[in-house]
Amino acid sequence: MNRIVRLKEDLLKLPTPSFFYDLDVLEETIDEIVTNKQEIDVFYSFKANSNVEILKFIRDKGLGAEVVSIGELNLALDLGFKKIVMSGVGKTDEQIEKAIIHNIDSINIESIQEIQVVNEIAKNLRRKAKVSLRINPNVDPLTHKAITTGLSENKFGINFEHLDKALDLIRKSEYLEFVGLHFHIGSQITSMSVFKNLVIRVNEIYEYVMERNFDVKLLNLGGGLGIDYHNPDSIPNFKSYFETIRKFVKVHSKICVEPGRAVVGQCGTLISKVLFKKETVGKEILIIDTGMNHLIRPALYEAFHLIQNLSKIEEKSEFLYDVHGPICESTDCFAKNILLPFTERGDYLIIRSAGAYGETMMSDYNLRGKPYTFFAYKNKILEK
Ligand code: LLP
Repeated sequence: MNRIVRLKEDLLKLPTPSFFYDLDVLEETIDEIVTNKQEIDVFYSFKANSNVEILKFIRDKGLGAEVVSIGELNLALDLGFKKIVMSGVGKTDEQIEKAIIHNIDSINIESIQEIQVVNEIAKNLRRKAKVSLRINPNVDPLTHKAITTGLSENKFGINFEHLDKALDLIRKSEYLEFVGLHFHIGSQITSMSVFKNLVIRVNEIYEYVMERNFDVKLLNLGGGLGIDYHNPDSIPNFKSYFETIRKFVKVHSKICVEPGRAVVGQCGTLISKVLFKKETVGKEILIIDTGMNHLIRPALYEAFHLIQNLSKIEEKSEFLYDVHGPICESTDCFAKNILLPFTERGDYLIIRSAGAYGETMMSDYNLRGKPYTFFAYKNKILEK
């Protein structure tokens, strides 16, 4: 079933371009998380979507926050998120200071030098900082290279070879309270065997750290669960995700994860209008009123997003088109050789699965302006 069809008449009245968020889908997704997570804690990764309405919804459902900058930290604090963890390879002093003052659950440290800096800042504040070490487990997430983070050559985390040195430093740092270990190997991971491999490696690292008399209270497995971009009406398989973790993990600590995309990806749609239709060598190009300025994923990673003609959603898709944005870059292209119903200027094209890394990665390139944002809840478009 195409969920968006139920709202077709209302959506066709909206101005374009617009990000449209279906809070019924978000609710169903979070309910699925809550039903299946059992004792595992979930911190939502703000970078996937930090739209305030979405964040409030997620907060009210009881999830924690994973933040990576002072902006995200401020937002999490302002919105009253009860549990916060913070990562990032380039934390600023101001950001670290704020995290310590607010005694967040864990500052996930990503380098040897950062251990010293966090200790120094905590010392100046005369407070203890709760810290975890982000360890690079060197497990291949089998995803796009641009969103791979857990291999030894990546800039994120501390490599296993430096773990002894990091633990030594933590032991000597009076103002640090060691709370645990953090891992995050990449994004848009669709194979459960990747999570299995991660957990098996994590068990070994956990053992290694515990043997050195460090009490790992919090074991953070990061985010990364992928969504099905070819089937935007589907909700990620949280059941098998959490089951895989539970089945293979051999630790006695509190376990947590920090998904982003899997929480918000499918609830968002970018709604656009066809501005022009033009002919090139043997095929027709549709130019729409949104582009890489609003959703950069196709241009940046050649990512696939399903495109549908909402105006003619009941008609058969039997005409071949390329779909381009209006931006002055050849990479501003959403799709090539896709089948759509016969499409004309003024038709509404919808780009699905745009809830994660859409609005947050938006830019003002070409000064075309920001898209509008709309929400639906309980099958109704909400007035803003
Ligand atoms: N935790 C950490 C430390 C992260 O760096 C990330 C994402 C997450 C959690 C959430 O990962 P997720 O569950 O969303 O996969 N812009 C790219 C994705 C970049 C992900 C960056 N880190 C995209 O559009 O595909």
